[in-house]
Amino acid sequence: MQPLKIYLDGQFVDEPDAKVSVFDHGLLYGDGVFEGIRFYNGRVFLLEEHLDRLYDSAKAILLTIPMERDELRAATLKTCRENGLRDGYIRLVVTRGKGDLGLNPNKCSKPTVFIIAATIELYPEKYYTEGLRVNTVPTQRVSPAALSPAIKSLNYLNNILAKIEGNLYGAQESIMLNAQGFVAECTADNLFLVKKNKVLTPHVSDGALGGITRRLMFELAREAGREILEANVTRYDLFVADELFCTGTGAEVVPITDVDGRKIGKGTVGPVTQEFIKNFRTRTQSGGTPIY
Ligand SMILES: Cc1ncc(COP(=O)(O)O)c(C=O)c1O
Repeated sequence: MQPLKIYLDGQFVDEPDAKVSVFDHGLLYGDGVFEGIRFYNGRVFLLEEHLDRLYDSAKAILLTIPMERDELRAATLKTCRENGLRDGYIRLVVTRGKGDLGLNPNKCSKPTVFIIAATIELYPEKYYTEGLRVNTVPTQRVSPAALSPAIKSLNYLNNILAKIEGNLYGAQESIMLNAQGFVAECTADNLFLVKKNKVLTPHVSDGALGGITRRLMFELAREAGREILEANVTRYDLFVADELFCTGTGAEVVPITDVDGRKIGKGTVGPVTQEFIKNFRTRTQSGGTPIY
């Protein structure tokens, strides 16, 4: 099999040769930003939305991406082409670059940019038909006053600790609460609940990433004549919900049928969740920026 071609600082290199310095602050300190993007059917899905968020994340951490948006978009599409892919996942990463051993970013003269386009191992189909078993975990979502969860930074230790805690219980995802006890989000997904035909989701200000799939849910809801309300959501609200699902670029729209040992609704995938899954899948096959 041919090695993947990776875009690294302006060049395409074979995956075994795609290396960054051990002095790169993305590695030493998690100092950088990234995006995970899907492409379906030869088209990159919601590419402009991902570029918006990448530049916003970079601005929030005072990192200047050393490429104009048009150039970065072109490099992203070219990375898919170089690998001859039509369906897969793109990881677009900008780090603070190589510095010294201190954390001062002023010592990093040039950000590192790399782009990986690869196939992705999806959740098995049975999760979409049977739903996930998830746990709420002790690790709280980091406070927006400490590090805004709206920044998609390379610093994922908060989420990783929550993931480990879920793994210890054999859960397939973990739900994180904020310091006030309100539900924030899953480790890499946003959360939605359905109660008496109303759809609710935690406020982003309760500690969630402003998910691009989350935003699409508002659009799909409008098209289906539904409304999604943002609310302060508690664990209790999850336990007594009729339906629950989570959303993310990698996971897409996945039902949750068990939270902390409580069956959600009837313990099967509910009709509103099924409607969102169907409409989401239709959308992925129609829109997007052409790769070829
Ligand atoms: C912490 C976190 N929340 C939510 C999401 C879902 O966001 P999106 O739909 O933009 O992939 C992600 C995935 O990127 C994430 O890492």
